[in-house]
Amino acid sequence: MKFALLLLAVAASAQVPRYESKAVLKAPTGYRDWYFVGSNLGISYSENANKDEFFKNIYIPRAAAEKFKKTGVFPEKTMLVMEIYQPTGDASPAKQGKFEGKFVGIEVAVKDKDAVPEGWAYYNFIGNNGASLPAAKANPKQACWNCHNEHGAKDNVFVQFYPRLRDKD
Ligand code: HEC
Repeated sequence: MKFALLLLAVAASAQVPRYESKAVLKAPTGYRDWYFVGSNLGISYSENANKDEFFKNIYIPRAAAEKFKKTGVFPEKTMLVMEIYQPTGDASPAKQGKFEGKFVGIEVAVKDKDAVPEGWAYYNFIGNNGASLPAAKANPKQACWNCHNEHGAKDNVFVQFYPRLRDKD
């Protein structure tokens, strides 16, 4: 019984941010088993956008999604993980279409006012040479937060692109 409780505690703790030091986040694991909110293809916001249209899948802990659907606000310590894949066209035997090919990496948004005064912090776990980083430092506010705050539909998050948060189900 004690062991089962311990397992539950470990499973739950994986869904809150774990830090190496203040605003230095350890890469979340197991997020593919969280609540999947939606995917998109080729949304890009950099000037010199890559020609490849990357796939992105976005996940959130189920409890945070449920709270958001009730209140319109994400609870403290909410994490959203966005994983990125290169598109691959060789979908044989299909004649056309693309699927998710090589894994590129993850970016993570965390609502945690103990980490950054602006409340939401943004972390990029894709290293310069494409390696997946075990930990990442919060980006400066102007690099990420400003756009999310201005254009994200609800509470800094791009809910308008995520059907399972946007639509009633
Ligand atoms: C110019 C606008 C803009 C900037 C700057 C920006 N983002 Fe985003 N971000 C978006 C849009 C649009 C989406 C919607 C989904 C997508 O991009 O695939 C998004 C989605 C996300 C998500 C998924 C959760 C959510 O909040 O919707 C994460 C995580 C994320 N961005 C991380 C970052 C990081 C890290 C940075 C800074 C290095 C950053 N973003 C800078 C526009 C921006």
